[in-house]
Amino acid sequence: MTGKEVRIVPSILSADFTRLGEELRAVEDAGADMIHVDVMDGHFVPNLTMGPFVVEAVRRATSLPIDAHLMITDPDKYAPAFIEAGADYVVFHAEACREPAGLLEKIHARGARAGLALNPPNSLELIQPYLRGIDLALIMTVNPGFAGQSFMADVMPKLSSLAEIKRERDLDLLIEVDGGIGPDNARTVVENGGEALVAASAIFKSGDAGEGVRALRAAVGGG
Ligand code: DX5
Ligand code: ZN
Repeated sequence: MTGKEVRIVPSILSADFTRLGEELRAVEDAGADMIHVDVMDGHFVPNLTMGPFVVEAVRRATSLPIDAHLMITDPDKYAPAFIEAGADYVVFHAEACREPAGLLEKIHARGARAGLALNPPNSLELIQPYLRGIDLALIMTVNPGFAGQSFMADVMPKLSSLAEIKRERDLDLLIEVDGGIGPDNARTVVENGGEALVAASAIFKSGDAGEGVRALRAAVGGG
């Protein structure tokens, strides 16, 4: 995969919410490929963030696809509201859901793309049964809950195993990686099979979100 094909996915978790529209314009103009919205419920993870209302505002402010990352205990209950609000991808954690296959179907039936996220301690076996039924696999390189945590390089073997499985089985899914990603480690992530790089701090805490996107793109050889 060349640097131009790698998708850069800003997570608005670290954006300046007093100027969300401007931040979104800056990353879109700089060539971002998708917008990541981190949804936390204070139960599945020890933090509270955004709901469908924010997705609806993001939808009005950008033409980029929206990727809603649900870190919540009731993804079945809330997934439809995120789709109605304009999410293109709805991504949830399999362990948070009694019947992941049913929810994947429900998301597809409502016209959105579906993904599964995998926390650092969890093995690929957790998502293995669903690989044919998902459009995106989100490999976490931090324990979810907060922006600004350190990248866990020990997740890389799991990422490359997933990339290998994708090649072997010719799976049609996007491999997205999330947590602690910045210009210093983006290339490692891509070399291990990452196709879409989520970044909050590296983009929005740099003082210039557009520059943050360009720096990530340059780091993977596409700038
Ligand atoms: C972590 C979230 C991530 C987070 C990434 O729980 O799922 O998407 O926003 O933030 P950074 O890039 O700062 O690690
Ligand atoms: Zn996320």
